[in-house]
Amino acid sequence: MQPNYFQQLTQYLKQQGTGTPQLILDIKTYQDNLNFVRSKLPTQLKPRLVVKSLASMQLLKLASQKLNTQRFMLFHLPHIAEIIQIFGQADILLGKPMPIRAVESFYQSNAQHEIYIQWLIDDLSRLQQYLQLAQQLDISLNVNIEIDVGLHRGGVQNSQQFVALLKLIQQHPRHLKLSGLMGYDAHVAKLPKIITSPEKSYQQSQHTYQQYKNIIQQQFPDLWHDGLCFNGGGSPTFMQHCQQSECNDLAFGSMLVKPSDFDLDHLSELKCALWIATPVLKVLPYSQLPGLEVLNHLPHHYQALFVYGGYWRADYIYPEKSQPHILYGRSSNQEMLQVPKQCTIAVDDYVFLRPTQSEAIIPQFAQLYAYVQGTFEIWNSFRE
Ligand SMILES: Cc1ncc(COP(=O)(O)O)c(C=O)c1O
Repeated sequence: MQPNYFQQLTQYLKQQGTGTPQLILDIKTYQDNLNFVRSKLPTQLKPRLVVKSLASMQLLKLASQKLNTQRFMLFHLPHIAEIIQIFGQADILLGKPMPIRAVESFYQSNAQHEIYIQWLIDDLSRLQQYLQLAQQLDISLNVNIEIDVGLHRGGVQNSQQFVALLKLIQQHPRHLKLSGLMGYDAHVAKLPKIITSPEKSYQQSQHTYQQYKNIIQQQFPDLWHDGLCFNGGGSPTFMQHCQQSECNDLAFGSMLVKPSDFDLDHLSELKCALWIATPVLKVLPYSQLPGLEVLNHLPHHYQALFVYGGYWRADYIYPEKSQPHILYGRSSNQEMLQVPKQCTIAVDDYVFLRPTQSEAIIPQFAQLYAYVQGTFEIWNSFRE
């Protein structure tokens, strides 16, 4: 990102900002990222937006329009209400298995059951709980089975466990419907190369996926149909899935705003669209460490700033070469920051940070300031 991009933003924030930390979404960059993603997606792979990573209705609306999808992956039940208010055709896949207590209270407060929800089921005892609930309420629940394709975060790990789930579904057609499989493969990009290459671990995870699909097709043909949702992926393996995939449904979110955890070779065409801007409260000629005042007499290469807030899951990015002081420590209230001496910065200027994750940062801000051509639109983020 060009330094004068941030200088320009500083000017706009000084005129239109709130004087408090603001989460900035660069609309142009977000749209460019969406265009890129659209150009890569093959037609057989339907995009599913990961709501926790894009937790703002406007962010989701734009992505839904550009990618022509109303498929969503949710990790938090209160988000269902937000989604169904706006997206009449929503297909909701839970990204983690919900405790039965949460499902019960969901159905207590949602009398109309027309919403299309795929509940994620990871083992037999949970499926039995869900079956019992479906029988009590006399409803039919869509069951998406989580399969472990190598991440070992959950889901079935062998064909016996898988077959036991399918049998129970088969025996209770009135209350349980198989809607598909979910196999998350985040380990593919994360494993150290010394253990295995991303190509190899991707192929292994795909092979596992294929085996589970085969079991349904060969041993449970009555459960097999064209509408089954075979979900996989995530931002880190997006490009691999676009080239070849056992899935027909691909979940992603973070890469569209590209926080730094997603700085991966495969995703180099995507650019960061999310920044934290925070005002400078104080400028000191150098950092003064309590108890080490003797150091004040040494030559200093850095001036010291105190900013509004701090200690976010984010890295200081502008002014360049800014960093918290290792000895002074971090603060969420007023963080001290070292900035090169030659940098011109004053009280009420802004410093900028790049989030490492969007899912951790967006919920910390009630609003996103969506920036385009010198103006900001206010977009609410999802609250609890
Ligand atoms: C099941 C599942 N699928 C997909 C994703 C991908 O989300 P993102 O693209 O935001 O990393 C996640 C992220 O946690 C996940 O847990």
